[in-house]
Amino acid sequence: MFVSGLLKDKRILITGGGTGLGKNMARRFMELGAGVVICGRREEVLKETAGELAGETGGGISWKPLDIRDPEAVERTLAEVWDDGPLDALVNNAAGNFLSRTEDLSHRALDAVVNIVLHGSAYMTLECGKRWIAERRPGNVLSIVTTYAWTGSGYVVPSAMGKAGVLAMTRSLAVEWGPKNIRLNAIAPGAFPTEGAWSRLLPREDLAEAFETRNPLGRAGDPDELANLAAYLLSDQSGFITGEVVTIDGGAWLSGAGQFNFASMLSDEDWQNLRPKKKDG
Ligand code: COA
Repeated sequence: MFVSGLLKDKRILITGGGTGLGKNMARRFMELGAGVVICGRREEVLKETAGELAGETGGGISWKPLDIRDPEAVERTLAEVWDDGPLDALVNNAAGNFLSRTEDLSHRALDAVVNIVLHGSAYMTLECGKRWIAERRPGNVLSIVTTYAWTGSGYVVPSAMGKAGVLAMTRSLAVEWGPKNIRLNAIAPGAFPTEGAWSRLLPREDLAEAFETRNPLGRAGDPDELANLAAYLLSDQSGFITGEVVTIDGGAWLSGAGQFNFASMLSDEDWQNLRPKKKDG
């Protein structure tokens, strides 16, 4: 879909880049010529992923162990990253989530999710933004949110609160930092199966299948479809897009929202019966 040098000369940091969708984005960005820095809590995982992706793509990749909930660690790590050269883009991909009745949550459970999703993404964004502004460099922040950032969703309430905040940050800073040539956009993915998310969110196999096919296109997303959208939003080809959220969910959230979409359950006979009867003669 893209020319091979689309992201040439771009240095992109991906939080949660050691596994799942973050790892897949890293691979795609490297294939398109970017240099990548992956961050995550587990050094062994990062090291293995970096070795694997470097071997597969021949591209440049480094890793930094980092818990984005810790603002001092974020500051320290970004200073180290910048010592090796400035970043061009940040992908706020790391998240924390689990399915729970909200009345079962302790305040620590609420914090565990909100501190990763909202505070972690904000710490990363601010540390990059301050540097880009001080150096008068253009910057690009892409945050992975979700459609329930605006619809809300039961049973993942801390995640919904956090993602709504990340979307508000995206839209707010797109305006505030636009004059400084810093763009901020978001992607709202639907069902993209990964081990990490599915084990936490879909405790039964039958739930997973229903979840994946519960959209008008009737299938789950392919991680490469998400990675290609991210590559586009990080490339200069999307240079006039900022403050936007792009949904990639096979139409799932709209199908739940449209008041009469239930009519897809009607049979051909039902539709025939709904048509006005022709008058005799
Ligand atoms: N239901 C209810 N409460 C839960 C829970 C669940 N499924 N999982 C964790 N909690 C609670 C814990 O009981 C604890 O509260 P307590 O001290 O009052 O008992 C609190 O959350 C913190 O748990 P802890 O395991 O110490 O948090 P952590 O910081 O190590 O882990 C999580 C953070 C909980 C988000 C963990 O799932 C994680 O690290 N996930 C990372 C990957 C991820 O979630 N990716 C997103 C995929 S969609």
